[in-house]
Amino acid sequence: MSLEVSREPTNLMTPMLSSAIALSSIGLSPDLSDPTEIWIQTQRSGRGLMAGLRRRLKRERRRRKVGRAYDMALEIARMVPKGSEVLDVGCGNGFIAHHLSALLQRPVVGIDVTPTTEASIDYRPYDGVHFPMADKSVDAVLLCYVLHHAQDVQAVLNEVQRVLHDGGRVIVYEDMPQTWWDRGVCAIHNRQWRERTGPCFFRSPAQWQSLFRSQRFEIISERPLSRSRNLTHPVARRFFVLTHRRAG
Ligand SMILES: C[S@@+](CC[C@H](N)C(=O)[O-])C[C@H]1O[C@@H](n2cnc3c(N)ncnc32)[C@H](O)[C@@H]1O
Repeated sequence: MSLEVSREPTNLMTPMLSSAIALSSIGLSPDLSDPTEIWIQTQRSGRGLMAGLRRRLKRERRRRKVGRAYDMALEIARMVPKGSEVLDVGCGNGFIAHHLSALLQRPVVGIDVTPTTEASIDYRPYDGVHFPMADKSVDAVLLCYVLHHAQDVQAVLNEVQRVLHDGGRVIVYEDMPQTWWDRGVCAIHNRQWRERTGPCFFRSPAQWQSLFRSQRFEIISERPLSRSRNLTHPVARRFFVLTHRRAG
């Protein structure tokens, strides 16, 4: 690596010299007598740094996505007995279903209105109306941040009842627009999704409770979840565990 300069630095040479030093620090040794060469190398190293940064950001996003799904799968696995047949409605990237399958030692079926999912799971496309599952075929249904997307929430809950065994469990995560801050985060979420699956319908805890009871679900437990559990979507949330018993 040679950084010899054949003459005194001029006004033009000073930034070139600092570029050359920066380039040499990452293992490139440009010819200092050729400004074009320094310019080309600087551009190349800048592009290299940007590409590296983009790869790192992508990896961080993937880790956050997979890690968040693992935390949720652990939380859900505490509420659903091992070996249960589970349906994840609106499974998104599929990582919750993927981790939960490992924890419950049974494949979890994922359905969504999107054509594919990222994780390798038993994924079944869904027309947004009829779950591709037989009547009374599952022990638990997951509705993780999905119900506020449903354009006809009653129809989705009717499908949940249809596929659920008597006494089966329903796990619901929902965003709660409790404060002006939460309402702002929910408004951004709505803007991001309304073109894809239609406008979001956020509700208060009391409105969700009344909807679940009106659909004959019993609320076994519920608790608030911290905004800080997802710093890229810092909104108040709620975790509900429901059960459904058929009349008669
Ligand atoms: C905020 S994402 C949540 C994804 C995943 N459950 C999670 O928690 O990571 C909402 C998902 O609901 C899906 N979705 C929207 N409308 C739906 C509907 N009517 N029925 C089922 N899924 C729906 C979307 O395609 C999207 O994957």
